[in-house]
Amino acid sequence: MKKVLVTGGAGFIGSNFIIYMLKNHDDIIITNLDSLTYSGNLNNLREIETDNRYSFVRGDVTDETLVRRLFEQKDFDWVVNFAAESHVDRAILNPNIFILTNVSGTANLLSAAREHWENSGAYKNSVKFLQVSTDEVYGSLGPTGYFTESTPLDPHSPYSASKASADLIVKSYFDTYSMPVNITRCSNNYGPYQFPEKLIPLMINNCLSHKELPVYGDGMQIRDWLFVDDHCKAIDAVLHDGVPGEVYNIGGHNERANIDIVKTIVRYISETADPAVGEHLIKHVKDRKGHDRRYGIDPEKIKNELGWQPETGFDTGIKITIDWYLANKLWMQQVIDGEYEQYYQKIYGER
Ligand code: NAD
Ligand code: TYD
Repeated sequence: MKKVLVTGGAGFIGSNFIIYMLKNHDDIIITNLDSLTYSGNLNNLREIETDNRYSFVRGDVTDETLVRRLFEQKDFDWVVNFAAESHVDRAILNPNIFILTNVSGTANLLSAAREHWENSGAYKNSVKFLQVSTDEVYGSLGPTGYFTESTPLDPHSPYSASKASADLIVKSYFDTYSMPVNITRCSNNYGPYQFPEKLIPLMINNCLSHKELPVYGDGMQIRDWLFVDDHCKAIDAVLHDGVPGEVYNIGGHNERANIDIVKTIVRYISETADPAVGEHLIKHVKDRKGHDRRYGIDPEKIKNELGWQPETGFDTGIKITIDWYLANKLWMQQVIDGEYEQYYQKIYGER
């Protein structure tokens, strides 16, 4: 039995990951530590919440006493750290919380893991700390080339800078204490349960309520899109077979310009659900500060070494995603009933 601490498991990727792992492995027990910020949502976990291999702890990754106590009580073999402030626009408004959660939170988890694993008989090869990071730590690409694992770190936003800082602290635990760690750096995820602050669910939600579709600047920025199930499979592969100390980029040459993503969403919703939705809703608005132009992952390492490659092309994944939001309007309604409107006004009100 592997005892796994998943942090941030009530968020978008974390909840998909917990569901995926419980469905695909009989030999794991998962504790989900999540403080339930605006993006944490226990509704995401409904289908597994009564599984006796799963338990939820509401708490903060920066809480030293709590994290230490959990290690003592539960004797984790693996840590998968998803907990984070994850949205670039929020980081531009309020960077400090990103440093606290993403940097200090990661440092706190590492220190509790080290203490526990050293006390319980040095590092066995069977323990692992997996840090879920992002391709944004590499900065921005020109029209050609891809990020590899040896691309120098060059983060631009307070979000990506906080993630890069966390990555370096994780690396230092491998270099200094030989803690078995992996860092995964994935491209932009999409799929069910994503909070509607990120491009794809925000545009779907706005289409469904006939609101303007705010495209930043010229809309020609490029992101490399990864269907969340494929990401979960990749993390699973790295957890089981990743070589300690190694970084793995996760992406799959699914690059699209933002404006094309928005038009694809408009077309599909218009054809399948609501003919009143159309490109007239698109509005080019003031660009994001420090907006990275292009991200693109070279996925050769994880493909060659761990045999992982994405199975869901963008054209399929986007339909699955939109269909999910169409079938789960209540989920969306509950999500946007909270402080969402205030947030929306702050980010988009003056654009
Ligand atoms: P999310 O914002 O949907 O979820 C974050 C989760 O972390 C939420 O459940 C939240 O309640 C929890 N959390 C926040 N602060 C916490 C704290 N101090 N203590 C405990 N829990 C806390 O984010 P996501 O999109 O699921 O991203 C998960 C991870 O993947 C993040 O580390 C993010 O940097 C990384 N990532 C995401 C993407 C993407 O496209 N979404 C891409 C690359 C990397
Ligand atoms: P986002 O989903 O915030 O992810 P990230 O900034 O981490 O890549 O944004 C994806 C792209 O979409 C990014 O280039 C910014 C752009 N974007 C818009 O044009 N309009 C929007 O309302 C949002 C949220 C994003």
